[in-house]
Parts: sequence; structure tokens; C-alpha cells
Amino acid sequence: MSFSIIGTGSKAPSQVKTNDDLARIMDTSDEWIRSKTGIRERRILGEETITDLVVESSLLALEDAGVQPKELDLIICATVTPDYITPSMGCVLQRRIGAVCPAFDISAACAGFLYAWDIADGYFARKLDSKILVVGAEAVSKLVDWRDRTTAVIFGDGAGAVVLGRGNGLKAIRLNNRGDETALFARYQKGNCPIRRSQNGETAGHTTTPEADADTFLHMEGQKVFQFAVSSMCRDLKNIAKQAGMELEDVDYVLPHQANQRIIDYAISRLPLAPEKYLGNIAYRGNTSAAAIPVLLDEFRRKGQFRKGDILAFTSFGAGLTSAAAILEWDKEE
Ligand code: COA
Repeated sequence: MSFSIIGTGSKAPSQVKTNDDLARIMDTSDEWIRSKTGIRERRILGEETITDLVVESSLLALEDAGVQPKELDLIICATVTPDYITPSMGCVLQRRIGAVCPAFDISAACAGFLYAWDIADGYFARKLDSKILVVGAEAVSKLVDWRDRTTAVIFGDGAGAVVLGRGNGLKAIRLNNRGDETALFARYQKGNCPIRRSQNGETAGHTTTPEADADTFLHMEGQKVFQFAVSSMCRDLKNIAKQAGMELEDVDYVLPHQANQRIIDYAISRLPLAPEKYLGNIAYRGNTSAAAIPVLLDEFRRKGQFRKGDILAFTSFGAGLTSAAAILEWDKEE
């Protein structure tokens, strides 16, 4: 016995940015972005903050679950772009919604939401009768260099949440990591400590320069990440079906990380599942990192896509390089 999903919610940022909007600020085109990624537009934070979206999506998920914030036993936020370095997004969310439980963030990039599920699974093993709020939220627009066409065009912002309760929904979950500091990364600022000693014993001056600041943007080796994404997605889906004691063909819907439609198309061509089983929203959301899966789940669930007993497979990958997969039976009465 582990957990079942008892509520979902998501909230999109207010600003829509089309490919043509991007072509006005960098050397790119709608045709290039659509053919290379399948993305037509993405949502970007306007006046609101990522915390605002997290609060709204969490309240929607709680309402859907019929759970009061004070009934929550734990809050886990998966994000690499919180509004504060400290306190965590989880702590800020806890105060804003009036919850009283422990709360923290995890950093596993795009796979973060499934990493958070794995932590929740352990928590349910220890304290069976719990209610856990798991959030995936990202403001990637804060992290990308908007002069860098090779990276900026694929990302968007968003937030999604689920409430987990005791249940038999989760059938299998598996996390992977292939440590890599060069394929996809963003550094902290180097700081400007004036009293730090340099290697030759001299007292260093202020070290922050415009170049050092530029160095904090997200860097991506697109083709390296692409190859990792295709191979991990195919391997993880096969392995997770096996771990759940089923055939991949038993899966009714795959909810893949929304990174690039071409990555998903490769997986479709290599796995024995009909293309219509793969759900997607990348065309109008872009890659929202840790938010991609909870947003996708909430959108399709609210469209009435899932029936009780449907088998859903989740697969994600991202900076780390992390990857994760899960199989869950949809057992919420609609
Ligand atoms: N608009 C127009 N041209 C662009 C461009 C853009 N936005 N970005 C790159 N180009 C150009 C390059 O400069 C290059 O030009 P050249 O041949 O004259 O040198 C050409 O297009 C091909 O660039 P390349 O980087 O080889 O493209 P690609 O086929 O690898 O596609 C990505 C680029 C980013 C779409 C692709 O690599 C990708 O999606 N990778 C995975 C990224 C990902 O999923 N990241 C998140 C993981 S969670």
C-alpha cells in the first residue's frame, strides 16, 4: 500500500509568448521552432510570481481532493527556480495556504516531480494514513539567457500540484541519475566577497562582473541532452513496466516529460505503444521542467481523459542528468 492521487490542480502564467514574439527579439523563426521542437507558444510569468502560481494550483488540488490545508502531513515542492534561495518554496507555500505541516523543496530539475513522488512513497510506507501535497513548479524564464536562441526557445513557466492520500494507485517508481555538470546546467552567482583570499595569498577584490553574472544563465548542449532523453525515456518505460509486473502494452496512457515533441516521437517509433497513448501539451506550454508532468496530468484529467482502472505511465528526464519513471493506476472516482 502506498498512495493514490486524490486531487489535481494547475495554474498557467498570464503571458502567452508565441514563436513570432521570440523571432522579434532573437534570430529565430516560427518555422524553425515548430519543426525542431513542436512548440508553437509558451506561457511566461507576467506580474505574478511563481509562488503565486504554486499557491493557486495547490488550492485547486486541495479543493479537488476535499482536503483542508491544515489536514496536510507534508508538502514537497520540486523546483530549481523558487522565488527565494531560502526559505524554501515549500515553506512559503505552507504559510500562504495556512498549512501546519513540514515542508521542503527538492532539486532534481525536470524529473523533480517524480523524485518527489518517490519521497512521498517512502513517507507513506512509514506513516500510512497521510495527506501529502506534491508540487512541480518552475519559472525557467528567470534562468534562460533571452539572447541565446539555442536554449531560450524551448522553455516556459508553469505550476501543477497533486494531493496524495493512502491508496494502491502507485504500482512502481524508479529514479536514475547520471551525474553530468556540462550538458545542462546553471551556476549560482560567484558572489562578491571582498575579503576572500586568492590562491597567491592576495586579498581578492569584488569578484562579480557582468561576465560572471552572464555565467549564471542556463546552458544546454542540445544534442547531448536529446540523446540522453531518448535513451532514458525508452529504457525507463520498459523497466518500469517490468518492475510493476506488467507488459508495456498494458499501459493506457503515457505522460512523458514535455521537452521536445521530436524526443517523444523517437520514443513512439521505438516502443510498442500506439501514438495516441502519448499525451502532450508541448505545442502551447513549451518545456516547463518540473511543472510539465503535473500540469499535463491536471489538464487531461479535467478534460475527462481518465477512467477508473486506467494504467498511466510517467517518464521524465532533465538536468543532473536525472531521469525517473512511474506507473500508477488511476483510481479516483470522477
Ligand atoms: N532558431 C534558428 N536556428 C537555430 C536555433 C533557433 N532557435 N537554435 C539553433 N539554431 C541553429 C544552430 O545555430 C545551427 O545552425 P548551423 O547549422 O548553421 O550551425 C542549427 O540551427 C542546428 O542547431 P542544433 O543545435 O544542431 O539543432 P538541434 O537539431 O540539436 O535542435 C534543440 C536544437 C535544442 C531543439 C534540440 O537539440 C533539443 O531539443 N535538445 C534537447 C533539449 C531538451 O530537451 N532540453 C531539456 C531537457 S529537460
